[in-house]
Amino acid sequence: MSTAPKLVAGGGALPRHVAIIMDGNGRWAKKRLLPRAAGHKAGVEAVRRVTRHARAIGIEALTIYAFSSENWRRPEEEIGDLMGLLRLFIRSDLAELVRENVRLRILGDFRRFPADVVALIDDAVARCAGNSGPILAIALNYGAQAELVRAAQSVAARLAPEQIDAASIEAELETRDLPPLDLLIRTSGEHRLSNFLLWQAAYAELLFVDTLWPDFGAADLDAAVAAFGNRQRRFGGL
Ligand code: FPP
Repeated sequence: MSTAPKLVAGGGALPRHVAIIMDGNGRWAKKRLLPRAAGHKAGVEAVRRVTRHARAIGIEALTIYAFSSENWRRPEEEIGDLMGLLRLFIRSDLAELVRENVRLRILGDFRRFPADVVALIDDAVARCAGNSGPILAIALNYGAQAELVRAAQSVAARLAPEQIDAASIEAELETRDLPPLDLLIRTSGEHRLSNFLLWQAAYAELLFVDTLWPDFGAADLDAAVAAFGNRQRRFGGL
């Protein structure tokens, strides 16, 4: 397989790995005088649209921030709604992921979720285990600082301080079998990384868009990819 970057319409390079902080579900619902749960439900529709379109345009890996390690601070009812949507999503979309040859990855300590959700996730990962196509990584109870602490502990247990380098840390990250992160998108006008992929974002292009996540669709992903294609990446060089 050629290692040259794929080109998109307009001539720019296609990002191999895109990550998204899906923000703005609550504000989307509030604008419509709906409960926050309705915003999250519409957010799942956006997940479906965007994951399908990412596959259609040839993005190798898509990582989505579905539940952060800080989201436990939300009211119990909202956490319950998010767990319910995760159950529904797995039940309704797993067959498509299997059929579409999607490699499913979970980032984060999802074993703290309710036992039935953990079982559904384990089953989903197992059923996608033989797949060889595009990667969908879902961050569930993920926090980058905790990921880095675990990586540091594991490296320190095996290596002397002078042997530790960037590659040895990278090999312990949960993204170790994903392509390098090229493009990180956050929706809803907030300009923060919120403990998401902090190491991996070192050389990623960052894109902050005002669109609320439930309104994000194929055209927005195309626009983000085009914006990426127009950026000059120098990785510290000239
Ligand atoms: C941020 O919106 C969004 C989240 C905390 C959760 C993202 C979850 C989904 C899109 C649905 C679940 C995903 C899957 C894969 C089933 P917010 O609530 O912080 O919005 P706000 O900032 O406007 O209040």
